[in-house]
Amino acid sequence: MAARRQAGGAIRAGAAPCTVRHDAGGMMDTITVDLGARSYPIHVGVGILDEVGARVREVRSGPRVAVLTGTTVGELYGERVAASLHHSGFDPITITIPDGEEHKNLAWLAFLYDRLIEARIDRDSALIALGGGVIGDLAGFAAATFLRGVPFVQVPTTLLAQVDASVGGKTGVNHPAGKNLIGAFYQPRLVLIDVAVLRTLPRRELAAGLAEVIKYGVILDPALFELLEERLDHVLHGDADLLVQIVGACCRLKAEVVREDETERGYRAVLNFGHTLGHAVEALTEYRRFLHGEAVAIGMAFAARLSQARAHCDAATTQRLRRLLKHAGLPTDVPGDLGPDALAAAIATDKKTRDGKVQFVCIERIGKTRFEYLSGVEIVAHL
Ligand code: NAD
Ligand code: GLY
Repeated sequence: MAARRQAGGAIRAGAAPCTVRHDAGGMMDTITVDLGARSYPIHVGVGILDEVGARVREVRSGPRVAVLTGTTVGELYGERVAASLHHSGFDPITITIPDGEEHKNLAWLAFLYDRLIEARIDRDSALIALGGGVIGDLAGFAAATFLRGVPFVQVPTTLLAQVDASVGGKTGVNHPAGKNLIGAFYQPRLVLIDVAVLRTLPRRELAAGLAEVIKYGVILDPALFELLEERLDHVLHGDADLLVQIVGACCRLKAEVVREDETERGYRAVLNFGHTLGHAVEALTEYRRFLHGEAVAIGMAFAARLSQARAHCDAATTQRLRRLLKHAGLPTDVPGDLGPDALAAAIATDKKTRDGKVQFVCIERIGKTRFEYLSGVEIVAHL
């Protein structure tokens, strides 16, 4: 299920070397994001949260480290992480912010800077994000900017953050005018993923993460898609070894895309499959009705329909995708109260629009995509 860059420009399934090993704790996989001097490892395993201290030691951090976490994750896992850091000789402080997307903003960033200054965090001190994508994006942007950059470590605890947000260096905060309007590309030194923490993740959040997993299968990896078709129930029941395999596969695919196009000059936009309409649905429902992954699921089902209508893919491909999304418990239909005019207007304000056109990701078949340049009006004509 590993990604391989093809001469024609696409990445597709191949047999890149895999470092999966079995040890006492279960399966363990290590993926390298290959970015020259800024390369970093992603460790994926079961029960490896207690290795945080030892792993941070490997990435050259001074003794003082800061952990940013949210209320829920802090209560569940904060002490374990702090104990692991102490055990490896670090002197950690934990900074907790309330859960929720509404805290990924400049005010909480300022709160974080204040705590880092009080704790005398210096340029050698690692900032560790322990939580979902909200914590990872906020901590990452703080790490990129505090003292002009401190070492950053990602310990993602939602499926969405494990397969997407923690890998690839996109960091940032929201602005009242829009999501993620302020940010930086800043790669972590290390990503440590313990799939065991997904046991406490609410089912709805797990399904939202699965939308991004399904996305990787659709755009890049037919073998991953087939595995999901066959074994989704096992994933939903928390089969840890299968989760290591799947999370590792997604990270490997994202690592390849990021290696090709770190700052989204072109090819990385393939990861936006389902996001054009998904973002519009999220914005029009004020980020309250749908989780990000749910909106992306609606957007992916729509993108397949559009691809079929424009004769890029067949009906069977559209059906396979809809079936898998539904099986995961994800929505696939655009809500009836969102009219085409409002959706077209929301698409037109997308920050990735150029000259009124969006780089829309279509599918040709499972594992193969193509870009089309379409206006909001041309897109919603396929609703
Ligand atoms: P989130 O960070 O809000 O977490 C969702 C909820 O799950 C929170 O309430 C949290 O407390 C809880 N939680 C997290 N881990 C848990 C666990 N193991 N057990 C129990 N509860 C747990 O949501 P998310 O979906 O992880 O992230 C969404 C954010 O990620 C958005 O801000 C989005 O913009 C960002 N994002 C960033 C990238 C990127 O490339 N940087 C990519 C995708 C999304
Ligand atoms: N989440 C899409 C990206 O990292 O490019």
